[in-house]
This record gives sequence, C-alpha cells and structure tokens, in this order.
Amino acid sequence: MKRLTDRRALVTGAGSGIGRATAIRLAEEGAWVLATDVTDGVDETVRLVAEAGGRAVAARLDVSDDGAVEAMVARAVSEGGGLDFVHANAGISGNLFNVLDVPMEEWSQVLNVNLMGTVHTVTHAARYMKSNGGGSIVCTASVAGLRAGAGPSPYSASKAAVINLVQTAAVQLSGTGVRVNAICPGLIETGMTQPIFDYARANDRMDRVGQLNPTRRAGQPEEIASVVAFLASDDASYLNGQAIVVDGGLSSSHPFIRGQLF
Ligand SMILES: NC(=O)c1ccc[n+]([C@@H]2O[C@H](COP(=O)([O-])OP(=O)(O)OC[C@H]3O[C@@H](n4cnc5c(N)ncnc54)[C@H](O)[C@@H]3O)[C@@H](O)[C@H]2O)c1
Repeated sequence: MKRLTDRRALVTGAGSGIGRATAIRLAEEGAWVLATDVTDGVDETVRLVAEAGGRAVAARLDVSDDGAVEAMVARAVSEGGGLDFVHANAGISGNLFNVLDVPMEEWSQVLNVNLMGTVHTVTHAARYMKSNGGGSIVCTASVAGLRAGAGPSPYSASKAAVINLVQTAAVQLSGTGVRVNAICPGLIETGMTQPIFDYARANDRMDRVGQLNPTRRAGQPEEIASVVAFLASDDASYLNGQAIVVDGGLSSSHPFIRGQLF
C-alpha cells in the first residue's frame, strides 16, 4: 500500500546514506521529493528514485545557510504545489577529539550544520505548514544525543539539542496540525561511517561491528528510511514530539559483559 501518494516532501542531506534511502522510500510510497544536499550526490539519488519508478528533483543546499533553506522551502512549495513532509537529516560527524582538545572552530562547524541546519529547516518548514493545514517533520538525531559513547562531544551535544528542539517545537506548534519527531539511529552503514565498515571488512572483523546491540549487527539506511516513511505518513498521526530510537536495541541496556549475566 502506498501511504504517501500525492504528498510533497523535502529531504536534506539526500545525497548519501540515510537521506538518500529516505528519498527513495518516500518516492516509492508515492511522494514527490525535493532531494537536497551540499554535494552532487543528489543527482545519483534522483536517478535511483527514477529507476524505482518515483518522482524526485535534485537541488544543492547547504543547511547552515538560513536564507538558502528558506528559499528551498519556497521552491518545494512552488514546484511541488505544497509541502507535507520534511526530513531535516543533513549532518556531519566532526573529528574524534577528546573533549578537552576540541578546537572552538570544530564546535562551531558541527553545531552550525547539525543544530542550526536543523533549526533553519524546522523553522521554515513549520512556518509554511502551520499556515497551510499542517504536516510532518522528522529530524535525524542520534543515539549519541541520548548519552555518551557514540560520538565526539560536539556531535553528541548537537544531537541532544536536536532532540530537545523536536520536543519544544512539537509543543509550541500545538494545535497547528504540524507534528515534529526525531529519529535516533544507532550505527548505520553510510558515508559517515564507511571507514569503520571498510576497516572491519578488510580485517575480517565484521562480527565486531554492532556486536554490543542485541540484534548483533549494524543497520542499513533503508532500516531508518522505513521508520521515517512511517513518521511521514498518517499511520503516525498520533505520534508527536518523540525521539524514536532505531538502534537494534543498543540503548535498551546498561553495559554488561556477555556471558556473565546470561
Ligand atoms: N550513520 C550513522 O551511524 C548515523 C547514526 C546516527 C545518526 N546519523 C545521522 O544521520 C544523518 C545522515 O547521515 P548519514 O549517516 O546518512 O551520513 P552520510 O555522510 O552518508 O550523509 C550525510 C549527508 O549530509 C550531507 N551534508 C553534510 N553537510 C551538509 C550541509 N551543510 N548541508 C547539506 N547537506 C550536508 C552530506 O553531503 C551527505 O550527503 C546525519 O544527521 C547523521 O548525524 C547517522
């Protein structure tokens, strides 16, 4: 069943990984998609959407540029005839510094993309949706935004802020018909994490990747996209202001040594 027929969607960071998989999944479910990214990867995304029988348009967008995001929302509305769903997904991991050694420029860069890029996207999308009968917004946060141990400090802080932004936005958009939710992926094989997977495959260590979660493997972008498509759809019509964790069960447990407890 196609749940998103005739819906209009905007995806940021759609040139790779989770954003690309989301663009394809939304289009497979019947949506028209404006697939945006700071790189040319969106051209390949649009080609893949067409190959899957869907409709998508590619556009370059740096989410840290507020004016550019505002213009892109306007473009989605004019080209798509409206805007029903936005996936604020673009993000960068930053570098692996100890918290005491993070250069201040690194903090600025990561927060500018991950937090402010999401702020820009949510603000302009919600403004339009509020005055046009509602819509659904999903922001990509991370398990790194829930607690330590899944990324560098600026990255983790940016994702914690995204989770809180989703909560405050959902509450302050009360009564407008706009739902705002976050997804918190665990370890997913994408451009961002490719070095981990390349190293593990080259060294015959794939059994170690994702070994700490009870599903005992890493996730694929399509396993996040399917949850995003659900949140975009009317199947999630009563789901609002939540951070949905999609991590194979990683965050369900305190750390323990396998074999000692059971
Ligand atoms: N891969 C994981 O394990 C994982 C886990 C949790 C959360 N996430 C989050 O998922 C989201 C997508 O990342 P991914 O894993 O698919 O990685 P990815 O690197 O494959 O995709 C991220 C995309 O965002 C784009 N991007 C970066 N900066 C941008 C900017 N300023 N403006 C517009 N686009 C920009 C990149 O060009 C890239 O296409 C990110 O927010 C990331 O933090 C990823």
